[in-house]
Amino acid sequence: MLLRVALFGGKGGVGKSTLACATALRLSEDHKVLLVSIDPAHSLSGILQRDIGHGLCKITENLYVEELSAEDLVEEYTKKALSVIKEMIPTLSSALEEYAKQLKHSPTALETALLDRLVDYFDGNFEFIVIDSAPTGQMVRLFYTMHSIEKWFSFLEKVAQERQKLENFMGRKDNLLELIRDRKDRVEKLMKVLKEKAVIFAVMNEDKLSAQEADSIQKHLQNFRVYKVINKCSSLKEDTIGVPYVENPYGIENLKKLPVEDILRLFRVFNNSQSLD
Ligand SMILES: Nc1ncnc2c1ncn2[C@@H]1O[C@H](COP(=O)(O)OP(=O)(O)O)[C@@H](O)[C@H]1O
Ligand SMILES: [Mg+2]
Repeated sequence: MLLRVALFGGKGGVGKSTLACATALRLSEDHKVLLVSIDPAHSLSGILQRDIGHGLCKITENLYVEELSAEDLVEEYTKKALSVIKEMIPTLSSALEEYAKQLKHSPTALETALLDRLVDYFDGNFEFIVIDSAPTGQMVRLFYTMHSIEKWFSFLEKVAQERQKLENFMGRKDNLLELIRDRKDRVEKLMKVLKEKAVIFAVMNEDKLSAQEADSIQKHLQNFRVYKVINKCSSLKEDTIGVPYVENPYGIENLKKLPVEDILRLFRVFNNSQSLD
């Protein structure tokens, strides 16, 4: 059962990937964990010092890691979309092939494919999913895309309802509505999981610009649970989530020693009380 999702966002270079790795490693001591990078500029391989790529890579008994490849994701998503469309309109094959090619170039193809993949993971058997995100702008855009997709499918659902009435009247079977509802349900599920089970860590350091970006994450993602984490912190305070500076935070053994207690504390609270608030 999926207990919680941790998403690390923030300005480039603040330590998102390092904290994501350290948190995932520590959680995997007691739970089955997926650590996934959705930042096209992946760095999990370098930080963990393991050869990771597209496709799940087993790192330890309980820890699986993946660096999602944008090209592969879009390719896989387009194939999936095409097979759904073919099911609906089997006679239009050459036009559909062309449509599928164009779909790859749609401005939100990558975000759509990525969000769709996350839903697959939520349905898997991981207890914790730790997401290493792209820097602030790209991450915020991903959330906005999710809202747009939800609105778009609501619109398509209405269109499909009208079409079904007509098809039924003509005595024909129509599964468009069913297919659209299926897509819509997936986006709604994604939103629900992110709202109810996700903690978004807006990572910053003592630099002012990184603090501004962490503020902007809080502002844009008001409907989600966002906590600021001060990384490479010179003096830890009781009321802030902080991680100190450590020498050489690379490789599994060193990362396991990184003091991410403040971050883990949020998960423990959740496991004990089923609520973070
Ligand atoms: N707590 C820390 N102590 C020391 N160095 C750190 C710490 N966190 C991150 N770093 C270093 O800071 C740099 C950027 O970290 P990284 O996790 O790649 O950032 P991001 O994913 O936000 O771009 C790396 O060289 C990393 O080793
Ligand atoms: Mg990174």
